[in-house]
Amino acid sequence: MARRPILVFDSGIGGLTVLREIRQVLPDRHFVYVADDAGFPYGDWEEDRLRERLIALMGRLLIDHAPEIVVIACNTAATLALADLRHAYPAACFVGTVPAIKPAAERSRSGLVSVLATPATVRRDYTRQLIATFAAHCEINLVGSRQLARLAEAHVQGDTDDHAAIHAEIDPCFVEKAGQRTDIVVLACTHYPFLTDVFEQLAPWPVQWLDPAPAIARHVVTVAGAALSPAELGAGTGEATDPVAVFTSRRPGPAQCRLMAQFGLRVAVPG
Ligand code: DGL
Repeated sequence: MARRPILVFDSGIGGLTVLREIRQVLPDRHFVYVADDAGFPYGDWEEDRLRERLIALMGRLLIDHAPEIVVIACNTAATLALADLRHAYPAACFVGTVPAIKPAAERSRSGLVSVLATPATVRRDYTRQLIATFAAHCEINLVGSRQLARLAEAHVQGDTDDHAAIHAEIDPCFVEKAGQRTDIVVLACTHYPFLTDVFEQLAPWPVQWLDPAPAIARHVVTVAGAALSPAELGAGTGEATDPVAVFTSRRPGPAQCRLMAQFGLRVAVPG
């Protein structure tokens, strides 16, 4: 019997930064990538409306794809609605992506950590709770960016980077205080790792840009292992079928289709 897919979900192309890590560690699995491009950007949504949208959309995706695991590869969605999704669909298995504040606080030497995210993610109670629980000994600087998710979409679709705009968005991450400097910037939006090279060029001093995708991929391996029977775990390679990309707009543009092809994803055409 064919294995059920792992469904990776984001508002746009950001979840691809998580998908590529998961595929490295689980190359034999079947993947469905879902971009809710009709709702992009999530950073601008009012909380109750976004929560309702996510619950309704997920209900359809669970029916259409019967995934074994759903990875919410979007901080803006997961910090708002991960608990609601689990409550609405108790039989489904969800893995979330939330700001990597705990590892950043453990690794920082200066004690000055910045969290770069959508304005919605920096406002969330979930994010404040992570800081209170894991980073009380650090100074956490929350930086909400209105533009970076769009700038990352443009970057991966081959547009010329607007360095001045990108610089303006990351500049507040760099804090100097009492002889110390920010040494870690948490990339708390899955779109941002696409821009890491540009961030490095524009940074006033070197920092660690913390991308949580490898840790999420390791977590998915653990969850996938737990979800499989011993026979399935020993089943070996060769079962992967073409990974598929689904766009909720049903009208991905040529640049989006090219990008999906670069990631080895076939764009599913709705019937
Ligand atoms: N990729 C999403 C995240 O991780 C957000 C982008 C957006 O829709 O604003 O937060």
